[in-house]
Amino acid sequence: MALKDDVLAALGKVSSPDGKPLPATGTLSDVIATDGKVFFSITVDAGEVKRWEPVRERAEAAVRATPGVSSALVALTGERAPGAGPASAPPRRPAAAQQGGARPQPGGHAAPTPAGIPGVEAIIAVASGKGGVGKSTTAVNLALGLRDLGLKVGILDADIYGPSMPKLLAIRERPQTIGGNRLKPIARHGMAVMSIGFLIEEETPMIWRGPMVMSAITQMLRDVEWGTLDVMVVDMPPGTGDAQLTMAQQVPLKGAVIVSTPQDLALIDARRGIAMFRRVNVPVLGIVENMSYFQCPHCGERSDIFGHGGARHEAERLDVPFLGEVPLDMEIREKSDAGLPVVAIAPDGEHAKIYRAIAERVRAGLAGAGRAAPKIVIEA
Ligand SMILES: Nc1ncnc2c1ncn2[C@@H]1O[C@H](COP(=O)(O)OP(=O)(O)OP(=O)(O)O)[C@@H](O)[C@H]1O
Ligand SMILES: [Mg+2]
Repeated sequence: MALKDDVLAALGKVSSPDGKPLPATGTLSDVIATDGKVFFSITVDAGEVKRWEPVRERAEAAVRATPGVSSALVALTGERAPGAGPASAPPRRPAAAQQGGARPQPGGHAAPTPAGIPGVEAIIAVASGKGGVGKSTTAVNLALGLRDLGLKVGILDADIYGPSMPKLLAIRERPQTIGGNRLKPIARHGMAVMSIGFLIEEETPMIWRGPMVMSAITQMLRDVEWGTLDVMVVDMPPGTGDAQLTMAQQVPLKGAVIVSTPQDLALIDARRGIAMFRRVNVPVLGIVENMSYFQCPHCGERSDIFGHGGARHEAERLDVPFLGEVPLDMEIREKSDAGLPVVAIAPDGEHAKIYRAIAERVRAGLAGAGRAAPKIVIEA
């Protein structure tokens, strides 16, 4: 608690553009201060963001200069006033180098291509419209599959509401800081991993509202020493709302992998996910059907409890690649929940083979991504 008080005292000396002490402006989120790591966000009207960026910088500097603070991450987010129309783009750091050039915008949003992350060849999102379909499980095992193909891989947990990577990869340590303002990702299974969950206590309630998410994500992308990566796999939060759309727009994505269960309902959500990425001209690398079928661990008999095959049909219908089927399997669940992803602990098993095959298709898709603009426009 003492550290939090010291931080708030330090913030009291930082003034808003109107000259008020920052804690008195009503723009601060709860300040999270644990083990010398401090994290909070400042939320202002979307139109005010430019004016507030120097305040964010001063706040971060003031926190960093507070004794006992080893690192500080201050997110600045623009919030849309109620009824103010579509979400305005949140703040972005000045683009150092535009990698990959502008994407074609056939009737889509005229959003500029976000700047790439120096040293990172390709960033892909693992997403779905619906929660609990297995995005995070797929993201981790896909990342491991890509690693097994000889690629240098990173994982960014973009699910700021319910980060999964601390649990899925059994990561309890905190990231170290480099030079006071950059974070070192955690190394696990030969991959670089970053999650907001590494900076906060597991029980801390997630207080971020939609628009606040983005600048935290931007900072995890840009203020983390990712090094040289062939692929960064981004585990997206569920849904296709404004927050996800903005994220899809602001993260320099080379492609998206959609995870769906075979049920119709989940497929409707998957369709929404695909439509969302197409709106922002991110190529959809394909659909993974998760919990596709159930293989009895005792007799080996396979049953299609959710009416397997739905995602494959849907992929054909929407003209996106079908990447593979992952069975519903107790081992996947138990091992994931214990922080032991199946591709890492049973690399010769059936499941690892399935994920590696998916990884190969993703890699092939990436090699072709960006060549052709998507032809089909589907309604969300
Ligand atoms: N193929 C599978 N077989 C068995 N269990 C699975 C499988 N895939 C995922 N699970 C389990 O389902 C639960 C939800 O998975 P996961 O957290 O990956 O979903 P998610 O889509 O990321 O969820 P959220 O929307 O909350 O982020 C977890 O307990 C996970 O272990
Ligand atoms: Mg998840």
